[in-house]
Amino acid sequence: MRELLEKLDSEFAFHTSGRFDLLAGEHIPYVELGASDIDAALRRSIERGEGVTAVVGRIGAGKSSLIAAVTDSLHEGFLPVRVSVIGVEAGEPAAFARHSIAEISDLPEVVLTRHEATVLNRAQAEQQTVATSRELRAGFKIAAGHVLTAGVVADLKRAAREQLARATDPAEVLRGMQQLFDVIWGIERCPLLIVEDTDHWGATPESADSFFDQTARAFANLDGVMVVAAQSDYTQLDGYKRVRDRLTAEVVLPELPDPQRGLATVLERRIAMAGVTAPLDDVLAEDALDLLCESYGESVTDGEAGDLRRTLAVMRTALDIAVGDPSVEVLSAGQIQEAIARTPLTPSSALGSRP
Ligand SMILES: Nc1ncnc2c1ncn2[C@@H]1O[C@H](COP(=O)(O)OP(=O)(O)O)[C@@H](O)[C@H]1O
Ligand SMILES: [Mg+2]
Repeated sequence: MRELLEKLDSEFAFHTSGRFDLLAGEHIPYVELGASDIDAALRRSIERGEGVTAVVGRIGAGKSSLIAAVTDSLHEGFLPVRVSVIGVEAGEPAAFARHSIAEISDLPEVVLTRHEATVLNRAQAEQQTVATSRELRAGFKIAAGHVLTAGVVADLKRAAREQLARATDPAEVLRGMQQLFDVIWGIERCPLLIVEDTDHWGATPESADSFFDQTARAFANLDGVMVVAAQSDYTQLDGYKRVRDRLTAEVVLPELPDPQRGLATVLERRIAMAGVTAPLDDVLAEDALDLLCESYGESVTDGEAGDLRRTLAVMRTALDIAVGDPSVEVLSAGQIQEAIARTPLTPSSALGSRP
């Protein structure tokens, strides 16, 4: 079975990519992991078509993965735009709104039309008939099918540029953001802003604090949808606590009730995606899986999800060790143990590491 290990290693089976657009393809819905259906909870919250939804979990728990998969699975009536918090005063509503408008004005057409195209291609592949139109919420119709033609996208980007040129004072920028949302509603699409790279605030809790206190509050008052990833520790910040009851929903990633089953499911998917057809037993000994589950358990707190990124990193390191040792046929507890020792547990968030 060395060939299996070598193949998994050469296919980067357990690597964790930082790229948001690759996460949806690797995501396994929580029900399949034996946990409660938070995929559906997040989808329902977004489909209300209003306000700000927070997705809460520790570093590496799977916030970005859940957001990527759920937003990818929405029907074509949504226009998702991912907005990075890097390089912007995200805690200032006007600065963040300006940055979001600028993103929309700068995005290549293919990026703006990607969701619609993906959904329509998927429907065609599955030979589903596309509905004609639907009501997202009272009075707000969403058009089904192809809306984002080159001309429509050009109009949208022009509208964004106009708002940027016009918006000089802060109050004006937020009005401009609403007007741009209105343009999107006007083409019968629901605007959806995705803010998921918020680990960036780990070393500057004041940014996280004011993002929730100021920016999330301001956006909750706008007519559009925002999904934001929040490290569990951010929810202890006063700014978060103050805005909490204004959120459309707070979706907390749960711990896996049966980690053996849950982690095995994640690993089996990774093995299959690497093009290897083999049961997990052929790759990882049973006591090695137990040990992996134990180390996952160390990162579980208060019933919240543990660190899946680290768990995958342990697998990757164990594989690396095994590939370098010709006597290893199946990953054993020994290699997992060594890999755990080499892969220190990251703090649940970077907030605590501040002086
Ligand atoms: N539900 C899931 N199914 C499969 N893989 C997952 C799932 N959740 C997380 N992962 C994997 O775990 C790693 C960490 O997830 P990520 O979403 O980046 O964590 P976070 O954003 O909370 O820091 C990623 O490599 C991701 O692919
Ligand atoms: Mg993330």
